[in-house]
Amino acid sequence: MKRVRLSIVGFGVVGQGLAELLHTKRELLRRTFSLEVVLVSVSNSRHGFIYRDEGLDIPTLLDLSARRQPLTQHADIQHWPNALEGLQATTADVLAEATWTNLQDAEPGISHIRAALTKGIHVISANKGPAALAATELLTLAQQHGVQLRLEATVMAGTPILSTVQEGMAGVNIHAVRGILNGTTNYILTAMARGRNYAEVLAEAQGLGYAEADPTADVEGYDVVAKTLILAALVFGQSLKPEQVKREGITGITREQIQQAAHEGKRIKLVASLSRAADMPAAPLEARVEPIALAAEDALAQVNGVMNALTFHSDSLSSVTIIGPGAGRLETGQGLLADLIAVSKTL
Ligand code: HSE
Repeated sequence: MKRVRLSIVGFGVVGQGLAELLHTKRELLRRTFSLEVVLVSVSNSRHGFIYRDEGLDIPTLLDLSARRQPLTQHADIQHWPNALEGLQATTADVLAEATWTNLQDAEPGISHIRAALTKGIHVISANKGPAALAATELLTLAQQHGVQLRLEATVMAGTPILSTVQEGMAGVNIHAVRGILNGTTNYILTAMARGRNYAEVLAEAQGLGYAEADPTADVEGYDVVAKTLILAALVFGQSLKPEQVKREGITGITREQIQQAAHEGKRIKLVASLSRAADMPAAPLEARVEPIALAAEDALAQVNGVMNALTFHSDSLSSVTIIGPGAGRLETGQGLLADLIAVSKTL
């Protein structure tokens, strides 16, 4: 049995989702991968960084979090005021970074990731800020320190996009991608097409844990810009800046426009696209995020609710479309779990 010591930084919707999966899938991990994951630390902005060498009890942590009680009620733990100090003072094999996505300067996530990689700790991250603004720098840092940085959970939650590109589609020359990459807005647009009210459905998406802490990032398209930047770096090897992505969100879309489009057999979707000339691998990418009225027979038009989809256009596989959940507690936690299993195979 391989024992992997895990630290989760950011114990909100996603961090707790991963913890819950580690608990409910404990037997599966043992049986299928001979893997025992010991959760040695968690941290959040309210309670700081808590650590217990023999491992923390996950049900107790989840229960305390649900009741908004201090996590420090757990027995015999050590405590630091924040994750950076805790990470310097403690040991773990893998850090799961699940703090909030900040697209201005990627903090605090980027500092957590740099600190862990520099210390020789593998990192799995669901945080879109560092991946969108600094994927190339961070992947280079990981390589320099002989550790892995895996980012599956940053695009389409646990739906396997990045591992598919890096492993399943290795050797394929991809010249364009086009997709629906935000669960909140697709949930809202789908419900509005059924006659529901914008504000009411947005509140529902927040309650389901789909929306960002500030849902402006979802509805104005910034979250999809972040995912588009991640795909530019990891699918095409090009580091774009946010201002290089033409962006329009869904706040200008009315229920009447959605219903009119439906009347014409169309569906309005927030679509992200990246493309370059098919025969010029080094050509600059064109990047856009915008609402489009798609013909009903378009594969993306059929993707409803919190589901997302991404189509890859390439040479040897023509087009491949992956459809799956784009947000959610366990769905995003699953992306981290898959990365954790992948890292553990190399330990
Ligand atoms: N707020 C994001 C969404 C979460 O709705 O897609 C997943 O990245």
